[in-house]
Amino acid sequence: MKKVNLGCGDKYSQDWVNLDFNSENPDVIPHNLLNSLPFANEEVDVIYNSHFLEHFSLEEAKKILTECYRVLKKGRIIRIVVPDLESVCREYLYILNNIDKPENKEKYKWIVIELLDQMVRTQKWGLMNVYWKEVVKKDNKLIIDYVKDRLGVDIRNYYVDPPSPKPSNYLNFTKIKRQLFNGYIRVIKNLFPTDYRKDIVDQTMLGEKHKWMYDKYSLPSLLQTVGFSKIQILNEKTSKITNFKDDYLDINSDGTPYRKSSIYCEAYK
Ligand SMILES: C[S@@+](CC[C@H](N)C(=O)[O-])C[C@H]1O[C@@H](n2cnc3c(N)ncnc32)[C@H](O)[C@@H]1O
Repeated sequence: MKKVNLGCGDKYSQDWVNLDFNSENPDVIPHNLLNSLPFANEEVDVIYNSHFLEHFSLEEAKKILTECYRVLKKGRIIRIVVPDLESVCREYLYILNNIDKPENKEKYKWIVIELLDQMVRTQKWGLMNVYWKEVVKKDNKLIIDYVKDRLGVDIRNYYVDPPSPKPSNYLNFTKIKRQLFNGYIRVIKNLFPTDYRKDIVDQTMLGEKHKWMYDKYSLPSLLQTVGFSKIQILNEKTSKITNFKDDYLDINSDGTPYRKSSIYCEAYK
């Protein structure tokens, strides 16, 4: 049974074929998923991806899903998890409509970052990192609990240090390739006049930004356009994939959702 996890990051099961961009993890196949999937037509039994599709433009997402359709066997399932545009918009409007309450003035700062920052940031980790650090430093329990409630993330464990080059003990092919690529980008960037440089080549990592967002209407519509059918919105604990919960991809070991405020969508080829 061939089960494929696209854009797995660090959240994967060894029972699956895991693919991600440029991974150094031996359990993950490095592959740029904007290229064709490395599988034959109708070779794959299940496809899963979580918090992956929103990193592509609508056109790119359609291309990726068309590839998924090609490699999936007839009658088999694709499961897609993405951040829920509706959830963040509803929360933003609720906070805005109740902005007179002092706690909502504080929550407003976060919900705007959640809604916009990952789409517009020009620096790695963007404003999210700056704000989370400030919140942790001040031990602002209101926002620590609020982000936990929204995303399921305890920012006291998760907030991110400024990017610093990791000490490198050994060189392998992937590292050399990445260093050559980064050097190439630096050279190209410096060819632009200084005033335009920041806008043309921004500082976010490839695949870090959100380029689109989905809701319970637009994701099923996109899947339908590509040819998928019997499309259902489920939740983190429900799936038509046999024994899916045993892989702990959408839940933590204590049964709580791994990615809160998400849409869980399944469809059949
Ligand atoms: C937000 S992370 C989600 C990781 C994991 N699925 C999870 O839910 O924790 C998005 C992942 O998509 C990967 N990704 C983005 N663009 C990609 C591309 N063009 N090819 C392969 N992987 C890509 C990133 O490297 C990253 O690991």
